[in-house]
Amino acid sequence: MTRLPAVDTTIRDGQYRDPSNLGARIDLHRRFSTNGQGWFGWLGEQIDLANAIDVLELGCGEGGFWAANADIIPRAARLTLTDLSPGMLAAAKQRLQANLPGARFAVVDAQAIPFADASFDTVIANHMLYHVPDLHRALREIRRVLRPDGRLYAATNGERHMTELAELMRATRADAGAFTIDAAFSLEQGDSALDRHFARVERRDYVDSLEVTDPEAIVRYVRSTIGAGTLVEDQVERLRSIVTGTIAGEGAFRITKSTGLFIATGAT
Ligand SMILES: C[S@@+](CC[C@H](N)C(=O)[O-])C[C@H]1O[C@@H](n2cnc3c(N)ncnc32)[C@H](O)[C@@H]1O
Repeated sequence: MTRLPAVDTTIRDGQYRDPSNLGARIDLHRRFSTNGQGWFGWLGEQIDLANAIDVLELGCGEGGFWAANADIIPRAARLTLTDLSPGMLAAAKQRLQANLPGARFAVVDAQAIPFADASFDTVIANHMLYHVPDLHRALREIRRVLRPDGRLYAATNGERHMTELAELMRATRADAGAFTIDAAFSLEQGDSALDRHFARVERRDYVDSLEVTDPEAIVRYVRSTIGAGTLVEDQVERLRSIVTGTIAGEGAFRITKSTGLFIATGAT
């Protein structure tokens, strides 16, 4: 009998129980990013949707990619949007089903994809593989459901992504763990994981940064992260005062972003 994968319940029933935490983080990027194109718009340009028919998204969250790219989805495409969290999936369905009437929605763990071999030409895994307990199990599953000439589009962050927020957390003696990406699927090291399952891996970077002028947006962001439960009010107050002081002195609190996409094709 196949062993069932371990499910990270702190992810499914905690951090991503509903879209509120992810929403606070997306809001900071939407309001203060220096690259006006926006992440989802850039991603829509990288993914060859025009030639995609059977498309699977893993960890679709609230469906932000499809909301931003509704006008470039070809009529012939058959979309399957999935997430481990029933709450995230319900939010995606509510947000998208009027515009994507043919789309199928399902609760799916990327480590055990309940679809037939070679049933998709495109798999999208946008900022989610770094949450999966058994990365290689998920990559084997993705390779299995992709057709031989299919493509995986896997977005992730670099190891310096949001590094000033990690420093801010350390300055307030708070848990900075949420800002330390699991290196196994970072932008710097994800290609070596993908190389074990795919013949070709290409990396594309999205150039951006944040110039934040509202301290409360940073407070909301920090409160939305995994580990925020251990934050005490004194730490939040200290953090707010550092950010307010920086904005007063320098005009903005500047934050490094490092994010991008792997496109993986072929079989090993
Ligand atoms: C950072 S959010 C990204 C959501 C969406 N892709 C986006 O970019 O807006 C990560 C998502 O992956 C989901 N997720 C985490 N572990 C998963 C797993 N093992 N299988 C499928 N989805 C998972 C979470 O529930 C969450 O919705």
